[in-house]
Amino acid sequence: MAILITGGAGYIGSHAMVEFLEAGKELVCVDNLSNSKETSLQRVKQITGKEVKFYKVDLLDIDALEKVFLENNIESCIHFAGLKAVGESCSKPLLYYHNNITGTLNLCKLLSKYNAKRIVFSSSATVYGKPASVPITEDFPLSTTNPYGETKLMIERILKDLWASDNEWSVSILRYFNPIGAHKSGLIGEDPRDIPNNLLPYVAQVALGKRECLSVHGNDYNTHDGTGVRDYIHVVDLAKAHLCALERAEKITGVEYFNIGTGKGYSVLDVVKAYEEATGAKVNYKIGPRRPGDIDECYANPEKAYKILGWKAQYNLEDMCKDSYNWQSKNPNGYEE
Ligand code: NAD
Ligand code: WQD
Repeated sequence: MAILITGGAGYIGSHAMVEFLEAGKELVCVDNLSNSKETSLQRVKQITGKEVKFYKVDLLDIDALEKVFLENNIESCIHFAGLKAVGESCSKPLLYYHNNITGTLNLCKLLSKYNAKRIVFSSSATVYGKPASVPITEDFPLSTTNPYGETKLMIERILKDLWASDNEWSVSILRYFNPIGAHKSGLIGEDPRDIPNNLLPYVAQVALGKRECLSVHGNDYNTHDGTGVRDYIHVVDLAKAHLCALERAEKITGVEYFNIGTGKGYSVLDVVKAYEEATGAKVNYKIGPRRPGDIDECYANPEKAYKILGWKAQYNLEDMCKDSYNWQSKNPNGYEE
């Protein structure tokens, strides 16, 4: 019996595959490599010493996807595959809706047809929109501010409706906060195309001298130092949450929602300082204007995940910064030779 990992060549998926392989699970990975490289899979093998069955398949191609089900005994799925750039989703909404929604519909049709009605889905704290307060619990009102976030919310609703129509389903919705860092080996990590949009990859490239200066997007937010506060979580901690979620989904049916964060909020300037202290590198920055759509503060109350899944983040900000720098300095050009 195998676990289908969609988007397994990507940043979070590759880290999750390491954890699942090390726990002795059999995996089948499907990825169209639209935002990743096959090298990440070779690195997963290098870390674990285990082979992963890989299909270069697009979730939009339902016939190719069905072949994967016919050739393997799939019993459950961890669904990472999707496009994730907020800005791009505003300029190309149809691409995002089609890829993320249609891809998930195809996947669910086949999971249902082949009686593998167990799914862990990568949702995001973005479904809380602009939260009225922090820390955020899972019962906060949901809203979105961009097409990417809308796809996450729609998929959450699709999965809920699916379960309502067929109570054999087991759906675990993980709402990630801000994943950063990399595997300790420095063999896998985040490899953004072009100029990074997210804070940590940008900071890492400045620390390494690849980029001159970080622009801090506004210092007039309602936070302790005026810069935006987020809940950064080590990608390996996040990866482990999927193991716990699947274990739970194997025991119960239903739909459950979990915040996957540390419960601690750090500002942009806190992160810059922590990065410098953890690595000894200099992170030059200047204060720039606010980035449209950004919110003041966003951090989780992660207690539900602890109580129900027995999961809790182990790594702190210093670990995250060290591991990010280790990956970036060993792979200054990401997975490219
Ligand atoms: P990523 O882009 O590194 O990985 C996603 C993978 O999915 C890529 O390898 C891509 O090639 C693949 N993919 C995309 N569309 C596909 C399709 N139609 N068919 C097959 N493969 C496809 O992103 P990530 O950071 O690893 O994120 C994984 C998931 O977690 C995504 O769903 C993302 O929206 C979600 N998420 C990410 C973050 C974050 O900050 N990284 C936060 C919250 C949620
Ligand atoms: C963090 C903080 C920025 C870059 C995004 C998505 C969200 C989720 C995670 C997928 C903010 C500031 C950033 C820079 C800066 N993804 N910043 N200079 O915006 O919390 O969340 O990624 O689900 O949906 O919206 O993360 O890393 O972009 O920003 O000052 O060059 O860093 O303003 O305060 P964000 P981020």
